[in-house]
Amino acid sequence: MIRFRGRSLDLRDGESVLECLERSGEQVPSSCRSGVCQSCLMRATAGHVPPESQKGLKPTLVSRGYLLACACRPTSDLDLSDGAAEETSSRVLETRWLAPNVVQVLLERPEAFTYEAGQFVHVVRPADGLTRPYSLASLPSAPWLELHVAVKPAGNMSRWLSAACGESVRLRGPLGECSYHAASLELPLLLVGTGTGLAPLLGVLRQALAYGHRGPIALHHGARNLAGLYRWNELSELADLHPNLELQGWIDDEPGMTGPRVRVGRIDRQPLQSYAPLRNAMIYLCGSPTLVANLKKHAYLQGASLDRIYADPFVTAPALAAALAIA
Ligand SMILES: Cc1cc2nc3c(=O)[nH]c(=O)nc-3n(C[C@H](O)[C@H](O)[C@H](O)COP(=O)(O)OP(=O)(O)OC[C@H]3O[C@@H](n4cnc5c(N)ncnc54)[C@H](O)[C@@H]3O)c2cc1C
Ligand code: FES
Repeated sequence: MIRFRGRSLDLRDGESVLECLERSGEQVPSSCRSGVCQSCLMRATAGHVPPESQKGLKPTLVSRGYLLACACRPTSDLDLSDGAAEETSSRVLETRWLAPNVVQVLLERPEAFTYEAGQFVHVVRPADGLTRPYSLASLPSAPWLELHVAVKPAGNMSRWLSAACGESVRLRGPLGECSYHAASLELPLLLVGTGTGLAPLLGVLRQALAYGHRGPIALHHGARNLAGLYRWNELSELADLHPNLELQGWIDDEPGMTGPRVRVGRIDRQPLQSYAPLRNAMIYLCGSPTLVANLKKHAYLQGASLDRIYADPFVTAPALAAALAIA
């Protein structure tokens, strides 16, 4: 049994805390439903917290009983309270299409909001509490927060955000470890992503260049077609300016459309094969969950150190969750 907001609720066999609360009509934020995005953060005030529900949380949160409701299947009674994650108010300043299905969203930067480029924030729609994580491509010195949003055909948040200029939003975070570390100035950086996975990579790249990174940097971006390699001109200019930056685009079959830095073919494991010194490399993998998982495994098998691999799989809510969010 779980106790939450003054109610006692019985868990069904194998049910997660999130599923139980939703079945019981409680409104709780969620997005990925697979323990990645931390939208469903809650706190246990009494009872045993299953360790798997605290995977990926900072030690300070673990020691205070925080857990992820979507990954929590209690084996005994648990008293729970809302995650009480601090929220700040913001506003959509500008929306601009970067590709047919990618929109850049600039948010007002709340006062005293500190973050590292490449981390992610939870954007909350005030009207109904719909919550989704998005990565930060801007530098902390920028006057706004820059998001790149892939607009999904039936996507609740992405479609709304694409036309939300002037709307208020709330923000939670920042979260995640995907950011540049000044101590790695001399190390090789390998940045690999698909689609809007470029957002956190661009954040890390901008920060690395701002610090004057001296080691080699390789950025691989995969997309369906040339239009999907958005921001390509800006990246090419950066690569022209910085001899230590190698840029490689990957697009699906589009004969005759390649340029000097663009190859036709699936991105797959290619970036690892063409990048030998993996042992000391800082590796950043973002975007398609399948690609991220695959590359992470193979980077490790090829000698990369797990504590130098930063992976942000862009796990989306399954259709059921999306339907619940609309209801
Ligand atoms: C750590 C992290 C960082 C992220 N960073 C970014 C980022 O920088 N940029 C970015 O674009 N994304 C990012 N994402 C993904 C993002 O959070 C959202 O999941 C994504 O934008 C989709 O949200 P949505 O509300 O638009 O779609 P949802 O409404 O959640 O729908 C998800 C999918 O289900 C489909 N769907 C919806 N309703 C139905 C239905 N009734 N029947 C069948 N299918 C349906 C949608 O078309 C969509 O493909 C990130 C995710 C994580 C975990
Ligand atoms: S971590 Fe629970 S919904 Fe994403």
